[in-house]
Amino acid sequence: MGRVIVSTGRGGAGKSTFAALASSYLRPPKLLIDLDPDESLANMLGIDLSEKGKKTISGALHDILHENKTVGRTGYNLLSNILPSLIQRDCLYRGPGLDLITLGTKFTVGCYCAPDAVLKDLIPTLAKDYEEILIDSPAGLEHFNRKVVMDIDDLFIILDPSEKSIKHIARVTAITKELKVSYKHLYLLGNYRFTNDTEEYVQNFGEAYLGKIEYDSNVRQYNLEGKTLFKLPEDSPASLSVKGILVKAGYEIRDRE
Ligand SMILES: Nc1ncnc2c1ncn2[C@@H]1O[C@H](COP(=O)(O)OP(=O)(O)OP(=O)(O)O)[C@@H](O)[C@H]1O
Ligand SMILES: [Mg+2]
Repeated sequence: MGRVIVSTGRGGAGKSTFAALASSYLRPPKLLIDLDPDESLANMLGIDLSEKGKKTISGALHDILHENKTVGRTGYNLLSNILPSLIQRDCLYRGPGLDLITLGTKFTVGCYCAPDAVLKDLIPTLAKDYEEILIDSPAGLEHFNRKVVMDIDDLFIILDPSEKSIKHIARVTAITKELKVSYKHLYLLGNYRFTNDTEEYVQNFGEAYLGKIEYDSNVRQYNLEGKTLFKLPEDSPASLSVKGILVKAGYEIRDRE
């Protein structure tokens, strides 16, 4: 069973950037999971899933239910035995450096219960094949309520310098406790907008603060242009700070691919 790592935080804090940069230092075999319906992680990793013949879970589920002439929860229940293997076949991208699976956008009315349930069932099976499983969350807290991931090893909260972000920490600890979502370590990270003062402030919270992700104009530019963050220069301040953070968290670091 691989180590399950989750990147979480408020909207726009830098969760996906952290996940993408961290992934380049993790041990293979590694799997990235994009839990955000507003899929953007594949782009940051330079992976065009449709070009590789892969679907998102939401997309594949829609097609499978359609092909089997059944709908919604009933359809999901009828097909539940074969769904995990179908989803794995249609959605799991196996790359040279890392594998990726994405929840994806739903283009029909309704909640994300079915794709969430599929992914929840699939994660423990997938986790057996990987050393590291890194999950990029959507903004906010709802993904905890959805209980897609129940057993987390390392939970990284990416903070922006705001009081809302500080309150977010307490909400994460309360909601995970209430819903029995377990984690072995909780790590706080400052995002690229953190100042020295904010760092000092956050260090007094009693949770492990591992440092800030440095501002990097290339990250901004690459994200603007939709370029993969894997092409950042070796001396990228954001990438190097993520490396330092992982070292502080006790990770065995690999050279960037
Ligand atoms: N270290 C950095 N230096 C400069 N800009 C950054 C850095 N990290 C993130 N950004 C910028 O901040 C914005 C948000 O980053 P990102 O998409 O990683 O956040 P997010 O928390 O995943 O957002 P969402 O809540 O929409 O999923 C992007 O435009 C990105 O370019
Ligand atoms: Mg994101």
